[in-house]
Amino acid sequence: RAEKGAFITAVIFLGFFFALIVYAAKGLNIDVPTCITDVKPYTQGQVIQHAPDRYEIHYLAKMWYFEPADVEVPVGSTVDIYLTSGDVVHGFQIDGTNVNLMAVPGAISYARVKFEKPGVYHIVCHEYCGIGHQDMTTKIVVK
Ligand code: CUA
Repeated sequence: RAEKGAFITAVIFLGFFFALIVYAAKGLNIDVPTCITDVKPYTQGQVIQHAPDRYEIHYLAKMWYFEPADVEVPVGSTVDIYLTSGDVVHGFQIDGTNVNLMAVPGAISYARVKFEKPGVYHIVCHEYCGIGHQDMTTKIVVK
């Protein structure tokens, strides 16, 4: 029967794509964006320093800014980035890195980035979120 064939094909493709994702995550050591639960929901942005080169930043996206603004870290720092939203869905992209997250109310997104080169890394909201969308930016300064 044609339906059965289509079903089997669909299952094979599903398995194939799942295997690709697992391979991307493990084999190539790419950070697949995850939605995590080991950080409690928060309503304020903050920077936490764990060691001279280890940071944790809790970003809060709101119409139309990010908190905290203009964070500074030393070159070579590894930064764990947590992101949530205080209102609507926002985007979060750090230029010059592969960090590209969504800020979703009630959920926390996560990415890890190591800043090997000094510079100003601009962060933009890439999800349309209202009249202030195009001005919704912040930055991480690496020196
Ligand atoms: Cu926030 Cu666009």
